[in-house]
Amino acid sequence: MFALESEDIRKTFGHFTALAGVTLNVERGEFLALFGRNGAGKTTFLKVAATLVRHTHGKLRVEGVDISDEPEKARRHIGFLSHNTYLYRDLNPVENLRFFARLYGLKEPDRRIESLLDRVGLQRRASDAVRGFSRGLHQRLGIARVMLHDPSLILLDEPYTGLDANAVEILNRMLDEAYAAGKTIILTTHDLDQGLRGATRAAIIDRGKIVANGTPAELRQRSEWAGAVTVRFGNVANGGVKPKLSQLGPVKRVEVLEEKNSGVLVRVFPRDNAKDLAGSVASLSQTEKWSLQELHTEEGRLDEVFQHYHAGHHSHPGR
Ligand SMILES: Nc1ncnc2c1ncn2[C@@H]1O[C@H](COP(=O)(O)OP(=O)(O)OP(=O)(O)O)[C@@H](O)[C@H]1O
Ligand SMILES: [Mg+2]
Repeated sequence: MFALESEDIRKTFGHFTALAGVTLNVERGEFLALFGRNGAGKTTFLKVAATLVRHTHGKLRVEGVDISDEPEKARRHIGFLSHNTYLYRDLNPVENLRFFARLYGLKEPDRRIESLLDRVGLQRRASDAVRGFSRGLHQRLGIARVMLHDPSLILLDEPYTGLDANAVEILNRMLDEAYAAGKTIILTTHDLDQGLRGATRAAIIDRGKIVANGTPAELRQRSEWAGAVTVRFGNVANGGVKPKLSQLGPVKRVEVLEEKNSGVLVRVFPRDNAKDLAGSVASLSQTEKWSLQELHTEEGRLDEVFQHYHAGHHSHPGR
């Protein structure tokens, strides 16, 4: 069962296409980190899913409920944290949360409100008008509001922006608990580490389309670094290391990292589906009588995969 099913969702603003056909299924209980450069469509997509912006094409279901057919019903499943916290400046935190509780039809919400304010560290500011709140305090109250009706699908648009270390920890703990309770989480961020901290899946959106989607391990495999070998040869007095390695079948390209005396440190990148690159490198070094001092097989690097899209390439990254 999917918590979110997005089928060819498009959104145009006049002539401008912000979403060019987003197809994305997120299973219940998954924690998806959605990455993409500025203007890629992250916020627009979350807003469409949260029923705040109407899509111009496609179908989107939240917990099986079509957001176009039954937006009210879909909304009850959704908690959306964005930079607009939708709070009333003249009301204090308790009054704000009471207001939203009424909107969601929650009965006797006061105890839940109190405990949420306590969790986000706002109990001491509970009777101050929100107008005097700093950005981080706003964001904390926003987190309480998002969790208020116990949504099963939690959408967070760059939730870490403006939070201090303590609030980051509070948010992370709440997300971990939500995940443990089987909720579905979709989070956008520009910070790779924060995004992947709790994520079971990562996706990249570029120019309004999903261009990569998989577990962090699967995406890592797309990196040019996956299976590359870094080798140090001690004595290559006869030279020609780079051209000779480059001629090996499984080799895509060779980078010389360091040359000292008669030694050399190189990184050898594999071709698509290359098998046993390390073995080929080792046997060539035997033939050539290079003394092989060190050989290390690299893991794929997610930052490299993301960098690829951020740099504006549109084909498959790396290999
Ligand atoms: N109301 C609007 N009217 C016109 N264009 C819009 C509107 N909202 C968004 N866009 C455009 O749609 C594209 C996607 O915007 P969106 O805010 O979804 O990007 P994003 O991935 O969230 O970027 P960022 O990382 O900067 O937050 C951008 O080019 C943006 O300028
Ligand atoms: Mg955005």
